[in-house]
Amino acid sequence: METSSPIPLCEPNLNGREKEYMAEAVDSNWLSGGSFLKRFEQQLADYTGASHAIGVSNGTSALQVALTLAGVERGDLVLVPDLTFVATANAVKYLGADPVMIDIHPATWLIDTELLLDFLEKHTYRNTGGCFHNESHRRVKAVVPVHLLGNVCDMELINDIAARFSINVVEDAACSLGSFRHNRHSGTSGLLGTMSFNSNKIITTAGGGAILTNDEALAKRARHLITQAKSHATEYIHDALGYNFRLVNPLAAMGAAQMEQLPGFVRRKKEVAEYYCRVFDGLPVQFQQLTPGTDSNHWHSAMLVNESRALIVALATESIETRPLWTPIHQLPVFRQNLFITRENVSSEVSLRGMMLPCSTSITDTQLQRVGKTIKRYIS
Ligand SMILES: Cc1ncc(COP(=O)(O)O)c(C=O)c1O
Repeated sequence: METSSPIPLCEPNLNGREKEYMAEAVDSNWLSGGSFLKRFEQQLADYTGASHAIGVSNGTSALQVALTLAGVERGDLVLVPDLTFVATANAVKYLGADPVMIDIHPATWLIDTELLLDFLEKHTYRNTGGCFHNESHRRVKAVVPVHLLGNVCDMELINDIAARFSINVVEDAACSLGSFRHNRHSGTSGLLGTMSFNSNKIITTAGGGAILTNDEALAKRARHLITQAKSHATEYIHDALGYNFRLVNPLAAMGAAQMEQLPGFVRRKKEVAEYYCRVFDGLPVQFQQLTPGTDSNHWHSAMLVNESRALIVALATESIETRPLWTPIHQLPVFRQNLFITRENVSSEVSLRGMMLPCSTSITDTQLQRVGKTIKRYIS
């Protein structure tokens, strides 16, 4: 019965031609590379408007390679928002660099651009070698704006700031396939952008990701690095430290089928987000405010509410799956020694009060109404 059946948080929706395309990929006997990988990459490039889309093994590896291509080296500092999935900060650390966490804006939950600028103006100096941190003299090489939950950062402003301070921009667009700002797709206005196709994302390849760029040389270099930097057609000659980060053909086949359904997925995500805003109107909850000019994919519905953890537990007893928002990076043991730039510790407050709401593209209206009614019972 629908009224008591479990309502999952965010399920994949594989009701298109996934099985057919994956079987075709297996039958072709082309597994590592192949025609579906080419097709999926072309679909991504066409949809986002990026000149190049390169399929990789996941969103984290996409970030690691993109940061390498952005010139991040051991000892560098990289500016990241304090509220994001840990992969954003991990990818920096993998390269021997350190993230500097910048607090988020209380309304948009995205990197606070005032704090970002303030840090660069008051705590860095520039010379011909780039931008350096006043106290540690470590180079500040890049900034990674994250388009959290589908909301797109003010990329015009961030690109301006980055250009002024000679730092590179790598956009973490893991959550924002289908999100545009002033008609430009997220992940396509920095030097490089990265995406995730993890199973909870708006489209999935089970595990997978992509690197976007408009720069042909960077795209070529990315392809080289993700295939172990092999520089000879037959001999095992490797001219750099490469990785085995390719997206494989059967998973790209799943991606190709998912891309065919993306416009419908975005439509449903928007309906779900609009429903929650409507049904909780006037109640003591707060939703993420979109940055002006953003057409969000509303990848994941979320809200702030007092006693969020108690509510999550209560909803679980009614078979409704919800989750907290991410723990701020500065609170995680691996990053506790890193710099955290803040005025009012907004990320901690948003994390403490944050909860993610059920928002599968396959959620029915009846299920949505059950979520709305049940939550209202607790918070009215
Ligand atoms: C903001 C953000 N960055 C990076 C990632 C990493 O992607 P993946 O899980 O595909 O490695 C995720 C994925 O969940 C994410 O939400």
